[in-house]
Amino acid sequence: MIKRPVIIDCDTGTDDAIALIAALYSPELDIRAFTTVVGNVALKYTSRNTLNLVRHLGFDTKVAVGAPKPVLREEIIYSGNKTHGDTGLGSLVLPETDKPFYEKTAVETIYEEAVTCGGELELIPIGPLTNIALAVMAHPDLKEMIKQIVFMGGAKYGGNITTTSEFNIWADPEAARIVFASGIPLTMVGLDVTRKAALSSQDTAEIRAMGTKDAVIVADILDFMLDRHAKGGEDALMHDALTVGVCINPSLVKMTKYYVDCECSGKYTSGHTMVAATKLFRNEPNCFVAEELDLTAFKAWIKGAIANSAKKPRFL
Ligand code: RIB
Ligand code: CA
Repeated sequence: MIKRPVIIDCDTGTDDAIALIAALYSPELDIRAFTTVVGNVALKYTSRNTLNLVRHLGFDTKVAVGAPKPVLREEIIYSGNKTHGDTGLGSLVLPETDKPFYEKTAVETIYEEAVTCGGELELIPIGPLTNIALAVMAHPDLKEMIKQIVFMGGAKYGGNITTTSEFNIWADPEAARIVFASGIPLTMVGLDVTRKAALSSQDTAEIRAMGTKDAVIVADILDFMLDRHAKGGEDALMHDALTVGVCINPSLVKMTKYYVDCECSGKYTSGHTMVAATKLFRNEPNCFVAEELDLTAFKAWIKGAIANSAKKPRFL
């Protein structure tokens, strides 16, 4: 199997952590780096959470620190505390690693890997698109070197911050507009499908029964999410893990290509992803939009990926 080189850009909170675990144990991916961005919680937490998790599971994958604030706006209003807990991982406390972050910034790491991978690098952003936009602005030739971007964000219909705006796009709409206009092949995994990607207490028990270090971490995070949901919060929605899954296996969802742009103004509409379902805008479609989810296939994939950690690598 030819492993596909990817960079996962994350604002490691609870669902990001599960996505990172599924990705780390997916044999299809050659994860060249994780890059961190402010989003669910402050950059210091999203970065520490990512580094601690990856090192705790025994991986030496580069973790490069990214943007502390959006491209233009002065600050970000975290979705964090209620949804992800004060430091982003709910009730999970990971050992603090003494290993360092990668010496380059997220932007320079994306560019470095794009050059190394010679046009084959794929990006999987699962937080605000700030780092991606900054990288494209700093290195315009990136547009020809990124094979595709499969990102979690937006929605054809609805939102979770306002009724029109999803958090990752709402947090940095100017960054999203830059990405939509970049010409890089795009796939948007938005709330239309991620709101259907809920894991249950039964799924949690199955995963916990696998008994490996990563499976127990996933189960602990899922228990936090299910408890949050029982108290009126968000369900155990696998927004980010589904995005990794779609990058690996696009048949997990049904997609249609549309012209998509991002609203950057409006007190209540900023961050809205405008999905042009007609030729009214006469713009060429620029983004595949996931519209329907095969939940059974998704659950089989994520459980299979988590279970891989119990399989000894072939060379042992
Ligand atoms: O709206 C859901 C997205 O916002 C997910 O990526 C979640 O981790 C938060 O970043
Ligand atoms: Ca995220």
